[in-house]
Amino acid sequence: MSQGSEHTAVSHHASEDAAQPMDERVDNRSQRPDSDQFRAFMASSWAQPETTTTTRAEVAEFAAARRARLSRLFPGERLVIPAGAPKVRSNDTDYRFRPHSAFAHVTGMGVDHEPEAVLVMEPTEPGHGDDGSDHVATLYFHPMAGRDSDEFYADAKNGEFWVGSRPTLQQLQDEFGLPTQDLSALETAVTKDAGNAALGGLSIRLVRDVDLNMDALVDTSRINTGVDLEQSDSKDATLTEALSELRLVKDEYEIGQLRVAVDATIRGFEDIVSVLPRAIGGERGERVVEGAFFSRARLEGNDLGYDTIAASGNNATVLHWIRNNGSVKPGELILVDAGVEADSLYTADLTRTLPVDGTYTEIQRTIYQAVLDASEAAFEVAVPGNRFRDVHAAAMEVLAHRLEQWGLLPVSAEVSLSESGQHHRRWMPHGTSHHLGLDVHDCAQAKRELYLDAVIEPGMVFTIEPGLYFKEEDLAIPEQYRGIGVRIEDDVLVTEQGNENLSAALPRRPEDVEAWIQGIWNRDENVGPTEGPAA
Ligand code: GLY
Ligand code: MN
Ligand code: MN
Repeated sequence: MSQGSEHTAVSHHASEDAAQPMDERVDNRSQRPDSDQFRAFMASSWAQPETTTTTRAEVAEFAAARRARLSRLFPGERLVIPAGAPKVRSNDTDYRFRPHSAFAHVTGMGVDHEPEAVLVMEPTEPGHGDDGSDHVATLYFHPMAGRDSDEFYADAKNGEFWVGSRPTLQQLQDEFGLPTQDLSALETAVTKDAGNAALGGLSIRLVRDVDLNMDALVDTSRINTGVDLEQSDSKDATLTEALSELRLVKDEYEIGQLRVAVDATIRGFEDIVSVLPRAIGGERGERVVEGAFFSRARLEGNDLGYDTIAASGNNATVLHWIRNNGSVKPGELILVDAGVEADSLYTADLTRTLPVDGTYTEIQRTIYQAVLDASEAAFEVAVPGNRFRDVHAAAMEVLAHRLEQWGLLPVSAEVSLSESGQHHRRWMPHGTSHHLGLDVHDCAQAKRELYLDAVIEPGMVFTIEPGLYFKEEDLAIPEQYRGIGVRIEDDVLVTEQGNENLSAALPRRPEDVEAWIQGIWNRDENVGPTEGPAA
């Protein structure tokens, strides 16, 4: 048949007439049998899933206490906190599911739990709710279907045949100590009696932008019941803010999980050192380093809290260098910023800047020492009673004076440190600290007065991460400084007495870093790099 342009135009038109909806076309690549015989056969002769009793998770009582604190902030209002849905990576391929952190915090649920689930906190008479609070919480989710159902083998998103076994209503209820209900009951639970509070309706607050279906459901209910959408938006935002602020001071369980994540991250850094000699020379040595860290995380059954930054040479001056496609050369520094995320979803966030061939050059050591001194000054003030902003100020004080001493500042350190100056920030443009927890930048929706301007309290966990970044293309500085980036990042727990560096076991002082690297390389020469999980 000829392929003339006229013919193509006609057949194009014909295909438009018979258009198959786009969302059905994904089925065009395979054919599922649909005969009654096949259905009956598929529904038969499967062993029943094991009905082991699920024990209560350690986190359950902590999550209940968190919900009780939240409840006290919003008496008489229905709170809707979604886990979120899987996110599309491309076409019909999703990323692995990761619940929203606010949901994870108030349910205690970690990895895998639970796509499209929603926690609804229903208001009660004051004091008549869970644990004497003002709300009763229920978890709505899509439980595992029976092996005699079509869903078992025909639903690629939820079916056990496709995605493996999933919890039943009873299992999640037992594990997390929360009443559970099927997702099919959610619409009524969210919208029942909702309306304008001034007219006797029940007010809903929703964590928005997590699950688009929930946003649509709540918006529709509001429109139908004459509730002002703009006012509701700001009420919703207050719930999101409160959930973020609820995490500012960590409970005992959270601190334990952060220790787990930090310790696992330190083992990952040991493997980074181990692999360094093999990273040198190849075109993409940074990926060898990134891979070694990820491999250690996976060997121990963990994930990452964020994409690893493996930045050698001038790439270390690019703050969010996650391309990691550069080479690693002797004589350079490699900055690695990485964090293991535990099953509970708590993550570490550590950075070390290592000499690729094991020894810092003189100029590298000078810059490194300035950053280390800034870090130590920050640790000094990261204690109860001081303000969060003081931590950054202490680090900047050290760096501005060091830059002045080196003759790099166009003004005095004093002028640079004043509000109208800030010249030193050319080489240290990010903050020195951020809260750490379920999110690497935890509590990010907290009010300024509870974050930057807040008084530091025991139980807070945050990073201390000063740096200096001298770009190759920076003509404001002498050549010897160019192409060097240094950051030292530790994770700090504030205690009654002061603070504890959770990452203290990872060497920081330049001589300790060098000795540690040498020690690992000597060990590897004798026995080869580590392969199995750490004993
Ligand atoms: N890894 C991101 C940060 O240090 O904030
Ligand atoms: Mn950080
Ligand atoms: Mn970091």
